[in-house]
Amino acid sequence: MKYITVALAKGRLADTSVKLFEKLGFDISEMKEKSRKLIFTDEKHKFKFILVKASDVPVYVEYGAADIGIVGRDTILEEGRNLYEILNLGFGACRMAVCGPLEMKEKIYTTNNLRVATKYPNIARDYFHKSKGQTIEIIPLSGSVELAPLVGLSEVIVDIVESGKTLKENGLDVLEEICSLSAWLIVNRVSMKMERERIMNVVSGMNKLINGVYQ
Ligand code: PRP
Repeated sequence: MKYITVALAKGRLADTSVKLFEKLGFDISEMKEKSRKLIFTDEKHKFKFILVKASDVPVYVEYGAADIGIVGRDTILEEGRNLYEILNLGFGACRMAVCGPLEMKEKIYTTNNLRVATKYPNIARDYFHKSKGQTIEIIPLSGSVELAPLVGLSEVIVDIVESGKTLKENGLDVLEEICSLSAWLIVNRVSMKMERERIMNVVSGMNKLINGVYQ
């Protein structure tokens, strides 16, 4: 039997993703041991699990190096890959928003060449260009984005807001909400045809788990 490979995003979503697969009966205990291993195998079910950077999950899944992935919808939207978004898993709920100092709220859509700092250039560009017909300047950053308006690097940011703590502690506010986000199960298009039964078993198992059927 061929192995099914599952790509899980490192970071905030990792623990819950692993727990869901364990609840479905998969053995990924190896993953919890502190090791530098990158690939974990459940021989009984013929499943392999890999832990990769969140933004790489859709890449592995699109190319078929992983059949299934669990990743945040922010990453799915930003990467715009050719794959199936199968199931909203619901956990890791947060939102994508335009944030900044409150005095920018009235000026967002009237400022010429608004400078927008973000880890999500595609989402930011889509939102301002397509939805609002506004030309902006994207300032790409890879972390601590909330700093940008504080030091005059940008007027606003487009970023994830979860608890709102980071914004609050830096004197910033949500100015406009772009969309809500959570973890999703994604599947490679070819794998869905070739391994439909084994993949749909995982999908329906996850669906029952998140709806509390197994509690
Ligand atoms: C994310 C996001 C915000 C923060 C939001 O960053 O970019 O900065 O979390 O969470 P909160 O609303 O609960 O405060 P992350 O912690 O992943 O780190 P980064 O800034 O290095 O990207």
